[in-house]
Amino acid sequence: MLEDTRVVSLDRLNDTTYSLTLRAPKIAAAARAGQLAHVTCPGFLLRRPFGICDADAAEGTIRVCFEVRGDGTEALAKVNAGDVLSVNGAVGHGFEDIKGRRVLFVGGGIGIFPLLYAARFAGVATAALCFRDKSRVVLAPDFAKVCKEIFLATDDGSLGFHGYAADLVNELIATHEYDCVCVCGPKIMMKTVSEVALGAGLDCYVSLEERMGCGVGACLACVCQTMLGQKRVCIDGPVFDAKEVRWDA
Ligand SMILES: Cc1cc2nc3c(=O)[nH]c(=O)nc-3n(C[C@H](O)[C@H](O)[C@H](O)COP(=O)(O)OP(=O)(O)OC[C@H]3O[C@@H](n4cnc5c(N)ncnc54)[C@H](O)[C@@H]3O)c2cc1C
Ligand code: FES
Repeated sequence: MLEDTRVVSLDRLNDTTYSLTLRAPKIAAAARAGQLAHVTCPGFLLRRPFGICDADAAEGTIRVCFEVRGDGTEALAKVNAGDVLSVNGAVGHGFEDIKGRRVLFVGGGIGIFPLLYAARFAGVATAALCFRDKSRVVLAPDFAKVCKEIFLATDDGSLGFHGYAADLVNELIATHEYDCVCVCGPKIMMKTVSEVALGAGLDCYVSLEERMGCGVGACLACVCQTMLGQKRVCIDGPVFDAKEVRWDA
């Protein structure tokens, strides 16, 4: 649904990353784990997609966190409290099958954002949050509030586990009990983590990222290849069963 939302606050998380809270009562009431908000960036016609990082139906607010990548997100990083932003949300197929289950959430970089809200829907949530180095680590205290355990990993070993997400997940699966694994991050990370999870006999769901145009299923800009044919990340996804994804396509 389309909603004219109002900026409540914009907070800087590190040199390039921001947390944006919007007053959006209708979207907050409807938002489910892993869904998207398509946010208008001031001065741009096409909305930009962001995972819903949190939603509070009682407060009527949603939160998205974003990294400045280009002109649209740069403009978004300059909004002020009270500004009105048109948002289409909550859209897409999210993490549907996690209620009551022991879920290992694995996020890499900006891929951690939708996992924070998703963790609220799990029976027992554990988070493995993976970053390039310790200067990129954000939202760890927020995850600690909604997860039973959190594990940090950095590619360069500057904080937490030294290594890639798949290696950490391999260790965690060998030493803990999980029912399924939910992954969001760079494609190579999702591919390798899903191979580990599926190899261990666990269900695995991945949140894919493709460049988007319309965000409503009409333009086919966001098509990805699956075992069931072409799918649109904006409305058929962003979350897919890892078994269905064709990583080589
Ligand atoms: C399903 C989905 C969920 C997302 N969730 C988040 C989120 O929670 N937080 C967040 O910070 N970002 C998220 N993104 C990425 C975010 O939408 C883009 O960074 C943003 O649209 C860039 O807009 P821009 O105008 O600043 O940059 P542009 O000028 O549009 O692009 C800047 C650079 O980034 C590249 N780029 C833009 N979009 C993508 C993309 N989708 N995949 C790969 N490269 C891209 C462009 O090719 C270009 O090189 C998500 C994207 C998708 C598809
Ligand atoms: S962005 Fe247009 S169909 Fe998905």
